[in-house]
Amino acid sequence: DKSKNLDQKKKIAELSVAIVEDGMTIGLGSGSTMAYFVEAIAKRMKNEKLTVRFVPASKFIEKKAIEYHLNMISIDEIEEIDIAFDGADWIIGKEILIKGGGGSLFREKKILLNAKNICILADQRKYIDSLSECIIPIEIIPFGYTKTLQSIEKIGGTCFIRKNKDEENFVTDNFNYILDTKFSGIYNWKAIHEELKSIQGVVDTGVFYGMEFNFIS
Ligand code: A5P
Repeated sequence: DKSKNLDQKKKIAELSVAIVEDGMTIGLGSGSTMAYFVEAIAKRMKNEKLTVRFVPASKFIEKKAIEYHLNMISIDEIEEIDIAFDGADWIIGKEILIKGGGGSLFREKKILLNAKNICILADQRKYIDSLSECIIPIEIIPFGYTKTLQSIEKIGGTCFIRKNKDEENFVTDNFNYILDTKFSGIYNWKAIHEELKSIQGVVDTGVFYGMEFNFIS
């Protein structure tokens, strides 16, 4: 059940903070596991008087980090991130991640691509063999979005524009929209990502690959 899952997420987050060393610049991904990570690292910093700075990937995690008095810095002010921690929605063969369930895929990818080391915090149910029926979140520019949607449908995707509870379109931290897109029977996620990226209006997709992921589960 869901509460058991939250317990797992909390445990994984508490294990992960042991990797952090004094003086590091840390990438903070988003999601509920990362919210537990913020609580755990704040505790360690207080107990051990560590000086660490954080680059947050979303307004959600930034708010959580402010609540716990973490020292933050923008990605544009630093040379490199020593280690980035993040969650994932799905993990295929330890090589491809599907992210963006929370809508932060662009910033998360930016942070992971600029980190020397990547640590993915994922409970067991996120490991899967293939994603034949998977939903890929795609961040798109609002202007002309119906045209972007039609271009994605032409290459075989069935798109649903993400909505808030009030039925308004969900808006990302970058003021864009998210299309939750289903591709039936497609197994080559790298190819589909490349094809999507070539469509005008697409900012990025929730397919993450070509990086070295370390997993904590
Ligand atoms: C945010 O856009 C996602 O990529 C999150 O990393 C992912 O949804 C994991 O979230 P949980 O830690 O809440 O499972």
